[in-house]
Amino acid sequence: MPKAAVCRGLNEALTIEDIELEAPRAGEVKVKMGASGVCHSDLSIQNGTLFGSYPIVLGHEGAGVIEEVGEGVDGLAVGDHVVISWVPQCGECFFCQKGQGFLCEAGGLAMATGGLLDGSTRFSKDGAPIMQMACSGTFSDTAVIPAIGAVKIPDDIPLEVAALVGCGVLTGVGAATNTASIQAGDTVVVVGCGGVGLNVIQGALIAGATRVIAVDMLANKLELAKQFGATDIVDASAGDPVAQVLALTENRGADVAFEVIGLKQTIEQTVNMTRRGGEAVLVGVPKMEVMLELPAFFGVVLMSKAIKGCWYGSSNVQEDVPKLLGWYREGKLKLDELISRRIGIDDVNDAFRAMEAGEVARTVINY
Ligand code: APR
Ligand code: ZN
Ligand code: ZN
Repeated sequence: MPKAAVCRGLNEALTIEDIELEAPRAGEVKVKMGASGVCHSDLSIQNGTLFGSYPIVLGHEGAGVIEEVGEGVDGLAVGDHVVISWVPQCGECFFCQKGQGFLCEAGGLAMATGGLLDGSTRFSKDGAPIMQMACSGTFSDTAVIPAIGAVKIPDDIPLEVAALVGCGVLTGVGAATNTASIQAGDTVVVVGCGGVGLNVIQGALIAGATRVIAVDMLANKLELAKQFGATDIVDASAGDPVAQVLALTENRGADVAFEVIGLKQTIEQTVNMTRRGGEAVLVGVPKMEVMLELPAFFGVVLMSKAIKGCWYGSSNVQEDVPKLLGWYREGKLKLDELISRRIGIDDVNDAFRAMEAGEVARTVINY
């Protein structure tokens, strides 16, 4: 009987419960979770920024060991270590065939229902279904997920590090190395230096940027940004961050600017920090009702700016997870350093509080 953190309604604290788990059906696997990161998107379902069907087991940044394999699953066996991809990627649909697995039709549909690929969930309690966030539900010590959402990794990678790869690292590093077109020698600005933004910083350096300007409102986050390689820092609480970034870039703005928070104001600031002919990459997830206001002629057309959305770091997980773990082994990617706190599942509500208070880069739940 799995122990899980369940969100039973909008703005309700998570409750730690013993729930039931059905065996994997065809094309599914059961994963004994090793660790789960606590990501801002988990909080976003609790507080309604993102749509959720309650009750739901949150958590989508996880890694673990396969405990049971359903019928017709190829290439995965009991005992395999896996990273969970919260966009399962089928490899066969229109988008997967075009090399855009992050837009997989199978994964996108499941996201909307809160169930697995067929729309139903394997979690329940007293006969009532409990949904699972993004085909995952990593705030449960065991979960059944689609086999195409499990990416096999080497056994010697610590599971708490592997867990972070599943969302924040793929998203942040991927935004810089997949979504954006950073050129060697570029100046990049990263607005928001949380768990995801720190990964954009390290990804930008790997992609060849030589100057990385980090923007945040909290001194501890700006300090972390420096540890992850930022060359300049801008304190957004000390005055208009756009003016500060322009002052640092001979009034041009950055070659590539990333927004990694998801607020109307910071998205507009990020576009306005982008140079003529440059690229603004929107990574943070805004509330669904947010509308942008940008000067269409002077701000975008005349400036020949590109504005790109970034979902899941434009990742093809079967290729990108091994690539990122390779960079970790080579010492190019800092992953252990992302972990600010380690907790048990009982303390997950405090992890949400700490995230909102800006106390942590990442909290990791160890099972
Ligand atoms: N100006 C500058 N920085 C800000 C502002 C602001 N107005 N508001 C918040 N921040 C900073 C916070 O101080 C924090 O360091 O943005 C950072 C957000 O980080 P986290 O809360 O750790 O969020 P993270 O997990 O990194 O996710 C960021 O990406 O994947 C999405 O849903 C996720 O939208 C979220 C975003
Ligand atoms: Zn996430
Ligand atoms: Zn697909």
